Amino acid sequence: MIEPEIDIHLDPFWIDQALRSDVAEGLASQPKELPPKWFYDDRGSNLFDQITRLPDYYPTRREREILEREVDVIAERSGADTVVELGSGTSEKTRIVLDALAATGRLWRYVPFDNSEATLRAAAADLAAAYEGLAVHGVVGDFEHHMGHIPHGGCRLIMLLGGTIGNFPPARRKDFLASVADTMAPGDTFLLGFDLVKDHDRLIAAYDDPAGVTAAFNRNVLSVINHRLDADFDLEQFEHEVSFDVEEEWIEMWLLSRRPQRVTIGGLGLAVDFAQGERMRTEISAKFRSENIGPELASVGLAMEQLWTDAQGDYALVLSRMVG
Ligand code: SAH
Ligand code: AVI
Repeated sequence: MIEPEIDIHLDPFWIDQALRSDVAEGLASQPKELPPKWFYDDRGSNLFDQITRLPDYYPTRREREILEREVDVIAERSGADTVVELGSGTSEKTRIVLDALAATGRLWRYVPFDNSEATLRAAAADLAAAYEGLAVHGVVGDFEHHMGHIPHGGCRLIMLLGGTIGNFPPARRKDFLASVADTMAPGDTFLLGFDLVKDHDRLIAAYDDPAGVTAAFNRNVLSVINHRLDADFDLEQFEHEVSFDVEEEWIEMWLLSRRPQRVTIGGLGLAVDFAQGERMRTEISAKFRSENIGPELASVGLAMEQLWTDAQGDYALVLSRMVG
């Protein structure tokens, strides 16, 4: 087994500075808002993993279905010997892709990239042990800041799975896709997973499970702020709420204040008031229409090569490469 190599670009100082700035800005905006990247400490990553197994949370299962069906085509078309995975999490579905590349005899390197260090380290160790001869080079970083640190070399299949693309507001989504295109060398390909617009009740059910796992995931952002910024959010006093914005075609997750309350954020020297019923947005999860993806990729210089959906048409994967 080759020992994984892990680069760390998120030291505690960087994380604190970034969190301070996001929290100060988000709590001053109207409505209040917190970016979803802060859900994913160890506990948050674990809760997300539980979400992927919930009966109503279909995206993970649908994406796995497409990968299992199409992986040989993806392996062949990409010609890759290296997989770079942005927001890799537990890297579970990645094994489908690694198996297919190993079968071609071309598999050389896996580069998981995530902001959750413990989750990335565990996944990197598991995969290095499972695939003899695989070089695992992990990057702990923020993919909105550290894309330039992705190792070069080899023919790379860059992946963003899970529907994570939906968690960017549109302007930042474009910046993110442009930064992916910027890191791509001739011959590299980009595999993107995205959730599709569908019946609103099904969408809501996917984000509002009766067991309260998604609610715990949602509230976890408050506990991250409590620990890192010495704040005193009382998690019990915030209710998980989900809505679907029909114009923007995205799910919104909110935390609703159950009573009038003042929260102190010691690390920022800040006291923030919440009115009873006031809602703070913690995530958007955009749902897409397949016909819009090609133009969106083209706007950053990527040409769509092939698009696949699952049998029910719930979810899609698209493979693209640089134009020219
Ligand atoms: N790809 C996995 C996990 C998706 S969950 C799957 O398909 O199941 C989103 C992942 O992105 C989490 O592991 C989270 O830690 C990571 N993430 C979220 N925001 C990030 C950011 N700004 N930079 C790097 N990783 C991020
Ligand atoms: C990671 N991301 C794609 C998930 C989603 O569906 O938007 C995060 C999530 N939020 C609530 N449930 C899952």
